[in-house]
Amino acid sequence: MRKRVAILISGSGSNMVSLLRDMSDRQHPALPCVVVSNRPDAGGLAKATELGVEALAIDHRIFKGDRAAFETQLTRTLEEHGTEIVCLAGFMRVLTPGFIERWAGRMLNIHPSILPLFPGLHTHARAIDAGMAIHGCTVHEVTTDLDAGPILGQAAIPIEPEDTPDSLAARLLPMEHKLYPAVLRRFAAGDRRKVSLLG
Ligand code: GRF
Repeated sequence: MRKRVAILISGSGSNMVSLLRDMSDRQHPALPCVVVSNRPDAGGLAKATELGVEALAIDHRIFKGDRAAFETQLTRTLEEHGTEIVCLAGFMRVLTPGFIERWAGRMLNIHPSILPLFPGLHTHARAIDAGMAIHGCTVHEVTTDLDAGPILGQAAIPIEPEDTPDSLAARLLPMEHKLYPAVLRRFAAGDRRKVSLLG
């Protein structure tokens, strides 16, 4: 049986698209069951619909800062769709420990740095400022420690002398689009060997 995957987004959803395209292969060990955005204006919603996947928004603003109430609605939606694995793909809401524990061992995230370096925001600028020669991205299990769950795969690219945070982000994104589907394929098949990609 293919595992049912829900993808949570907040924005353009380019990582979501790479996951959906990969799962369009009928031999894939997982299949998408729903895409959920916390922002009704997220560009990724229309892209998911175009790819034939149910997409809906749960606007976090309606819950006026009550994270638990937002997550109750989110959990209900995920359960209604029979979700077995949750992929965070540019999902920009902090999740409470209760929600994270509910999905422990079944929720993945992609983070734009070589963790444990540069958790949090502004990773590209921080890698350049630190004088790094390489940068990259990480897919990891989500735990209650921010950007610190078990690492499932990483991709690395060189930092060029002329790189800016924007140019580095733009060169890293295609590697994210390779890494996340590669990790999900293994993860959904129960294979915990780490994926490593060099760009
Ligand atoms: C990616 O850089 C991802 O690593 C980060 O947010 C960005 C999302 O981009 N968490 P997209 O919405 O997948 O295009």
